Formats: sequence, structure tokens, C-alpha cells
Amino acid sequence: MHSINQLMLSAFRRVPKRLVKPIAMRYIAGEGLEDAVRVVRGLNARGMMATIDVLGEDVSAMEESEQAREACARVLKTIQEERLNANLSIKLTQFGLKIDETLGYENVNKILQIARDRRNFVRIDMEDSSITGSTLDLYERLRSEGFDNVGVVIQAYLRRSEEDVRKLIRVRANVRIVKGIYVEPETIAFKDREEIRRNYLKLLRMLLEARCFLAIATHDEFLVKGAFQFIREMDLPQSAYEFQMLYGVRAKLRDQILAKGRRMRIYVPFGTHWYSYSMRRFQENPQMVRYLLQALLVKN
Ligand code: FDA
Repeated sequence: MHSINQLMLSAFRRVPKRLVKPIAMRYIAGEGLEDAVRVVRGLNARGMMATIDVLGEDVSAMEESEQAREACARVLKTIQEERLNANLSIKLTQFGLKIDETLGYENVNKILQIARDRRNFVRIDMEDSSITGSTLDLYERLRSEGFDNVGVVIQAYLRRSEEDVRKLIRVRANVRIVKGIYVEPETIAFKDREEIRRNYLKLLRMLLEARCFLAIATHDEFLVKGAFQFIREMDLPQSAYEFQMLYGVRAKLRDQILAKGRRMRIYVPFGTHWYSYSMRRFQENPQMVRYLLQALLVKN
């Protein structure tokens, strides 16, 4: 991110949450599960699938991780009862991975069992680099235990990702590929925009060639075009991949992909813990920071 945006963002962190909220809600379905259901129903009606995320991360107490698990179980139940075309995305730190790896593992194992009983799928989001290794280990453990309703995420900005992709190919993993959103040091992450794009396309090609199911998650037209080219060259069926985008971001590009008859899944977050998620989204969009600073100047 440019330093001017960084400055604006750090100024913005001092803005009261009640001013941030109306703008944050562009990226979030709402605070309740009923809000997520309403948004997903609308997306489904327009031919899109969804993945629902119960906002929250980095819990510090066991009870909080149990609450997160219960909330995810409610989402899976509701998806089935309301006949929504949606699955679930989770964060391992929400399930207690940083308190105790066994606790994190047990919570995810329970969620996967519930999802399997309800014939649904769970994607494990990728968080910052302090838990990349443990997230991938946990994913491989779950797969070796027979869960095939689980997928993981690879971040193209991480230098280690090529090696990780090689390992994931061995287990025919279901992978979402993203650029990566956390601030990481140059020693472990590419910083240059073009270098990240190159690595994204390289990893994308490796995964598609190996016939791993791929969720192509990006709002970058350059990468979307690159993906289309590989798909054409490899003559891949629609069942081999899907595109994914975030709720509230680049609806025009999303509709163009849909108009080409491709499968599109929208990441729909909801919940009361919306602040850190929104801050990450604002970082990606300088225009948002401008809106937010304008909000600062409005008298209340
Ligand atoms: P880029 O950031 O270059 O965006 C391309 C263009 O899209 C920008 O020029 C801008 O116009 C527009 N745009 C992008 N973000 C915007 C925003 N917030 N508001 C308005 N316009 C915006 N990361 C991670 O580390 N772990 C994860 O598990 C996930 N999961 C995930 C799921 C899905 C479905 C998506 C789409 C993304 C993620 N990410 C993620 C986030 C990802 O790593 C990355 O930060 C964003 O997708 C932005 O990168 P792009 O590839 O979209 O390119």
C-alpha cells in the first residue's frame, strides 16, 4: 500500500466505530444470520453461489472458540433448512488455534462432521504467516482422516507457496488462490505487484494442470484474463473451477464473468465482529479511506 494510504488509514483508525459502521456495511451482509440469509438468497436468485463467514478471529478464551463453533453450526443448519446455495468459510484462530492447536483441531473436526452430515463444504481461510504451516498441517491431517468436504487457501504473495502447492497437489487439494491480505515482511513475501501477479498465475497453472479443484479468488482483471486463457488452453470443464469475489467489491467485473456463463461464488461475511475485517478491506481501496475521512469531517 502507498504510504499516503497508510497515513490516511492510521488516521482513520481513530475514527469512532459508529462512523465507520455505515461504510463497513458495504462489505458485510449485516450483524445477524438473517442478514446473511437475505443477501445469499438475493445472490442465488441472480445465479451466484455464496460462502458465508461468521466474522471473528483470534479468540483468547476457550468459551469464545466454542461460541464460534456453535455459530458456524447454526450457519450450516440454516443453509440446509433454507435451501441456500452456499457453503462456509472459517478462520482457525476463531476456533482457538492460537490458544491450543488441539483445541483448534477438535473444533474444526466437529464442524466438518456437521458439514458432512448436512452435505456441505468448509473452506479454511488463510490468516497471517505465523500460522501458515499449522493451517496446512491441520488441513492435511483432516484430509488423511477422510474428510473430503474441506478446502484451504494459498496466498500468492508468500514465497513458500510454490512448495506448499506441490504438497497440496499430492493430496489433490481443493484450493482457493488469493493474492494475500496481511502485511508480511519482504523476507517471506513478494512485495512487488507484478511479482505477486506472476506468482499467482504460476500457482494457478500448477493447480489447474494437476486437476485440483480451484477457486480463483480475485478482483484483478489481469488475473481473471490469465485464468480464462489457461482454462481455454487446458479445455477445462466448468466443474474444475469457480471464480470467487468478495461481497460489495467490483460488481461490474463479477457480472461480466457471470455473463460468460462461469460459476461465481461470493464471500459473504456477517456478524458483530466487523471492525478488523472492514479495516482490511479499506486498506485495499483508497477510495474508501477518502469516504471515511469525509465522514470524520461531518458534524454529529
Ligand atoms: P487487487 O487488490 O489488485 O484488486 C483489483 C482491483 O479490485 C483494485 O484495483 C480495486 O479497484 C478493486 N478492489 C480490490 N479490493 C477492493 C475493495 N476492498 N473495495 C473496493 N475495490 C476493491 N486473503 C487472505 O490472505 N486469506 C484469505 O483466506 C482470503 N480469502 C479471500 C476470499 C475471496 C473470495 C477473495 C476475493 C479474497 C480473499 N482474500 C483472502 C483477499 C485477497 O488476498 C486480496 O487481498 C484481495 O482479493 C485483493 O486482491 P485482488 O486479487 O482482488 O487484487
